[in-house]
Amino acid sequence: MTVDMAVLRAEFPILSTQVRGKPLHYLDNAATSQMPQAVIDAVTTHETQARANVLRGVHTLAERATDAYENARADVARYIGAAAPEEVVFTSGTTSAINLAAHSFGALLSEGDEIVFSLLEHHSNIVPWQMLRDRRGVVLKVLPVTDDGRIDLDCLDEVVTRRTKLIALAHVSNVTGAVTDIARVVAAARDVGARVLLDGAQAVPHGPVDVAGMGIDFYAFSGHKVYGPNGIGALWARRELLDEMPPFMGGGEMIRTVTVEQTTYAPTPHKFEAGTPPIAQAVGLGAAVRWAMALDLETATAHVNRLTGRILDGLRERPGIRVLGPLGSQGRAPVISFEVDTIHPHDVCTILDHHGVALRGGHHCAQPLMDHCDIVGTTRASLMPYNDDSDVDALFEGLDDAMARFA
Ligand SMILES: Cc1ncc(COP(=O)(O)O)c(C=O)c1O
Repeated sequence: MTVDMAVLRAEFPILSTQVRGKPLHYLDNAATSQMPQAVIDAVTTHETQARANVLRGVHTLAERATDAYENARADVARYIGAAAPEEVVFTSGTTSAINLAAHSFGALLSEGDEIVFSLLEHHSNIVPWQMLRDRRGVVLKVLPVTDDGRIDLDCLDEVVTRRTKLIALAHVSNVTGAVTDIARVVAAARDVGARVLLDGAQAVPHGPVDVAGMGIDFYAFSGHKVYGPNGIGALWARRELLDEMPPFMGGGEMIRTVTVEQTTYAPTPHKFEAGTPPIAQAVGLGAAVRWAMALDLETATAHVNRLTGRILDGLRERPGIRVLGPLGSQGRAPVISFEVDTIHPHDVCTILDHHGVALRGGHHCAQPLMDHCDIVGTTRASLMPYNDDSDVDALFEGLDDAMARFA
C-alpha cells in the first residue's frame, strides 16, 4: 500500500503556505511538527464550547473542561502504553518532565548515588542532572558514543555500578537519529536495581511506544513534536514510583487539605500538577495522539524510511558532505544531521530557506556531542509522514545551490 499523499497533506493546512514565494518544504519536524486540522479543530471546539478551569468548578463548562482534560490523559496513556491514565503527569514538555523527575525522584537520592546519561543527550537530559548533583551531591557518569552516532552500550558494564540509581538516556537522538537499544539498558539497570528514564521527545512522533512493555520507569515527551500544540507534554512513571515521589511544585490543584501550618497532597498524578494546567493544549495533545493512532503506521513508516534512504543516499553522493549518524535506515529515526564542508550550518539553512526548505542548523542543544565531534554544529533534516518526494528534491536543489555559491 502507498500513502495517498494528497489526502494526507491536505489534512495539514500549513503545508499549502508559501515561503519567499516558494512552496513550503518543511523539514524541521524534529524541532516542531505540524498540526492536522483535527487537532486545530479540537482546540478551537474546546476554547469555544468548554473553556473553563478544571477540577474545581461544578458548573457545566467546568465539568466539560475537566472531562476533556482527563480524557486527554487517557488518550495519552493509551498512545504510550501506560497501565493507567494516573501514570501520566501533564507537563509543559520534555524539559519540564525531566526537571520534574530530577526534583521529585532526585529528592529520594543521597550523596554519592550515581546517575548515568550519555554524551549525545539533549541539554534537557543533562542540565537537570547537573543541577541535582549541585543540590544533593549525586555523581554523574557519562556513556560515550560510537563512531556512527549511537550511545555506546558496550560501555554499560564499565559505567553502571551498584551505586547507579538512574540511567537517563535518549530513546532516539535528536542529532544522529539513532534509536537506543532499550532492552540492553533495562537489563543493565535491573542487574543493579537502577531505574531507567527515557527522553522520548524524538521517538514518540514516529508511532506509539510501549512504556510498560519496555520495562522502564520514566518516559518524557513533548506534544508539539507529535502533531500537538506546544506548551504541553508528559512525564510517565510507574504508579508506585509516582506515589513515592514528593511533589515538585506547590500551589492550587495539587492539594487535598491546606492549613497555615501544613498541607496534604492530592493523589497521583494531580499532586504533580500545581496551578491551572495548560488545558486546551492537553485537549489538543489528546486529539493529536488519537490522530496518530488512526494513521496507517506500517505504510507511513515505510514511506518515511524510503524518503530517509533517499536523503542518506543523496548526501553520500555529494563530495564534501558528511552524515553524522547511522548511514542505513536500520535502527534510526528520520532525523538526519550532516556537515557541509566549509559552509556554516546557519548559512546552509539561510540559503535553503530561499528555496522554501525549512531545516535546523546549529548545535541542536547537544553541545557535548558537538564538542566530541569537534564541530560547531550540523544541518538537520527531519521528516514526518506528510513529507514527500518534492521535499527531498527541494532539499537537494537547495544544497547544490549552497555548495555552488561557496565553491
Ligand atoms: C531529544 C530531545 N529531548 C528534549 C527536547 C526538549 O523538548 P522541549 O523543548 O519540547 O521541552 C528536545 C527538543 O528538541 C529533544 O529533541
